[in-house]
Amino acid sequence: KTVYLKDYQPPAFSVESVELTFSLFEEQCQVRSNLHIKRQHPGQLVLNGGQHAEVLRVEVNGELLHESGYRVSGEDWVIEAVPDEATLTVLTQLQPQNNTTLEGLYKSSSMYCTQCEAEGFRQITLYPDRPDVMSVFTTRIEADKALYPVLLSNGNLVEQGELENGRHFAVWHDPFRKPSYLFALVAGDLQHIEDSFTTMSGRAVTLRLYTEARNISKTEFAMGALQRSMKWDEEAYGREYDLDLFNIVAVDDFNMGAMENKSLNIFNSSCVLARADTTTDAGFQRIEAIVAHEYFHNWSGNRVTCRDWFQLSLKEGFTVFRDSQFSSDMGSAAVKRIEDVTLLRTAQFAEDAGPTSHPVRPDNYMEISNFYTLTIYEKGAEVVRMIHTLLGAELFRQGSDLYFERFDGQAVTCDDFVRCMEEVSGRDLTQFMRWYTQAGTPRLQVTDEYDAATGTYYLDVRQSCPATPGQEQKLPFHIPLAVGLLYPDGTEHHLQGDSTLVLDVTEAEQRFMFKGITQRPIPSLLRGFSAPVKLDYPYSREELSFLMSHDTDGFNRWEAGQRLAMAILQEQIGAIQAGEELEVDPALIAAFERVLDDTDLDYAVAAKVLTLPSEAYLAENAQVIDVEAIHQARRRVRKVLADALCARFRERYHATEPDGVYAFHGSSIGQRALNNLCLGYLLATEREEALELVRQQYAEADNMTDSMGALAAVVHSPFTTVADELLEQFYGRWSEDALVVNQWLSLQASVAGEGTLAKVQSLLQHAAFDWRNPNKVRSVLGAYGQSSVGFHRADGAGYEFLADQVIHLDPMNPQLASRMVTPLTRWRRYPAARQAQMRAALERIAAQPLSKDVYEIVSKSLA
Ligand code: ARG
Ligand code: ZN
Repeated sequence: KTVYLKDYQPPAFSVESVELTFSLFEEQCQVRSNLHIKRQHPGQLVLNGGQHAEVLRVEVNGELLHESGYRVSGEDWVIEAVPDEATLTVLTQLQPQNNTTLEGLYKSSSMYCTQCEAEGFRQITLYPDRPDVMSVFTTRIEADKALYPVLLSNGNLVEQGELENGRHFAVWHDPFRKPSYLFALVAGDLQHIEDSFTTMSGRAVTLRLYTEARNISKTEFAMGALQRSMKWDEEAYGREYDLDLFNIVAVDDFNMGAMENKSLNIFNSSCVLARADTTTDAGFQRIEAIVAHEYFHNWSGNRVTCRDWFQLSLKEGFTVFRDSQFSSDMGSAAVKRIEDVTLLRTAQFAEDAGPTSHPVRPDNYMEISNFYTLTIYEKGAEVVRMIHTLLGAELFRQGSDLYFERFDGQAVTCDDFVRCMEEVSGRDLTQFMRWYTQAGTPRLQVTDEYDAATGTYYLDVRQSCPATPGQEQKLPFHIPLAVGLLYPDGTEHHLQGDSTLVLDVTEAEQRFMFKGITQRPIPSLLRGFSAPVKLDYPYSREELSFLMSHDTDGFNRWEAGQRLAMAILQEQIGAIQAGEELEVDPALIAAFERVLDDTDLDYAVAAKVLTLPSEAYLAENAQVIDVEAIHQARRRVRKVLADALCARFRERYHATEPDGVYAFHGSSIGQRALNNLCLGYLLATEREEALELVRQQYAEADNMTDSMGALAAVVHSPFTTVADELLEQFYGRWSEDALVVNQWLSLQASVAGEGTLAKVQSLLQHAAFDWRNPNKVRSVLGAYGQSSVGFHRADGAGYEFLADQVIHLDPMNPQLASRMVTPLTRWRRYPAARQAQMRAALERIAAQPLSKDVYEIVSKSLA
């Protein structure tokens, strides 16, 4: 059954307040819920109930509701003849210990926890489970005191005490009205660390981070990240925290990264627990960003929430934009931008070009869980970023202030957000709204012309957007195109007093004219990646080399290098396909050499510049994806660079050692990134000396970034004996640490080679593997599905295997199973033989009884 945005109707009844009582027992849990409802509009009272909530009893104003008093269709319970004001009492029974979907109330190791977004609350009790029904929640939890000493829910703890039979209770009251998806409950034997934060108006907030005892040594970093986030949101957005307590709980079994439940954020332990010896720099950065993301939701999501799930990007796109601004401020802005764009251009562009492509605001869905996508999150953040670019920082802040003030306590739409931006700026964003409604990645084709006689320079911009499912024709987008003009001597032309000018591209074809241009300039286009588009301009390799050295826009300096490398990789792919040998253009070697010689360049940026475009990015840009040729071409270019610049990589490797013991801060992160990059290239020469360096680094490392750097280098090299030896050593050292073991699993699952399938099959049998834990499944199946030649084997065995595993997983955890199908959905992008194999795998899945989640993805992929 498909739900459509156009069918939206406001709810007939509001829930003024709700009291919940959870009685937790090992074999079953009972939930009693009292809803105080009040009519707001004509229409019937519709409650939602999921299959995990067995309804024992419903009362209206204390009277038992008989079977004639309601109709059930699917998850909808239509209650007939309810007075305009009433108290509903619902008694349900649950078995959290058997709930493997990780939605609603479930058990993760020894604790109870909840995940209610998007529609998990209906797995707990009957309720109008939609975000535009906001209510005040009071929650009483009763449980065995020895097994579950800690009892948490949203808001403030208002009462606690002892009960008979070794049980105890706690009552929590959340004064802020919220939708059911923000409800949370945790009960367990947990340890915590505590700190505090004083808000700008002087409110002292207690901050607690809870984990099981074994993980308590990994909590400090996230606590600091939370404090930094709280401070940043006050300074950057004027947003202050609004309760006296803020809790974070780490749980091992979690379908996504984390959840912003009001004052009780619940995190996948992989997204919150960190320690130098177990967590890479990238891991630390990710954790800091996710802690910030969930905290920022307190305003962009909780205080102002979504009217319906079609508006999901209202909170997610905006909050990802906010957390990316935060990360830029905490570390290197250029590196953060490069990383965000890399993710967008590989994964989101691929999604937008596939069968599940959808607009930032979708207009229909079967299963909303399938819409927690890169498009909603990352492209949604780019859309907000474009508004920021069009308005400028100051007006954008005025717009966000207006948005938070006007809609505080309400459930609103993407239009409401954009209208605030229009009001404060006086700009008309009507055409801009197409970014919310049209799917697909627009393409900009830019050409130029220079008239020396009049000193005039012209940029001609053509925009187009490919058809996507259900949208054949696209109307032109409003695209902010940031440009700069460089002269051949390296100086920059100042456009309207500034070195960067934002052009408003609004037409299908448009000409921009620049006067007073003294020589033919080299254009620096789409600076900072000012819009999520594909841009073509016929750059020569000389021009790209020039921009790599001279562009004043840090992002575009990196981008010029990527374009140069792409051109060279693409011609190598062509040569491999034609069975020819082609020299790797020395221009690339020269460009890399200049970067390696430039010791002033920020190390982290240098590491990014010296990283060749990934196989995934090459695939995304190919007409037809030739996995083998892409892999060989990239390997070959890497080897040529490594051989030619071996001495340089050796010089830069540990040229500056991070001083003293490990620290997670800017310059040492950059040093480690560059060291590990150099080590990777040195090993690509396949020389024994390089192998010695790897062994040495692995043996001496006092942090996971360097251990993993060495391990990954050797695992992806032809030195398989040493790889196996180090992998075994690594497992021996870390077998007790699930989060480290996950890194070990995914490293092995992503090896490019025929043998990976057998390895992955054996990992599924390994003691470290567990089907119930999504992190494990993602580490093995997720990583394998994203690997190139390991998965896309010519015999199709990788596809068959993945289909089998999806079929196995779906009855346990539909949300996760649905994610694992993704690689198969991209079948149209591959050569005919692989298309047929991938389709066959999808059809075999489709022939099974499936969850709504997997059904939606598979049926759309085959359509
Ligand atoms: N709102 C969460 C976040 O972005 C995502 C949780 C969604 N969970 C799910 N099972 N669909 O931080
Ligand atoms: Zn979010």
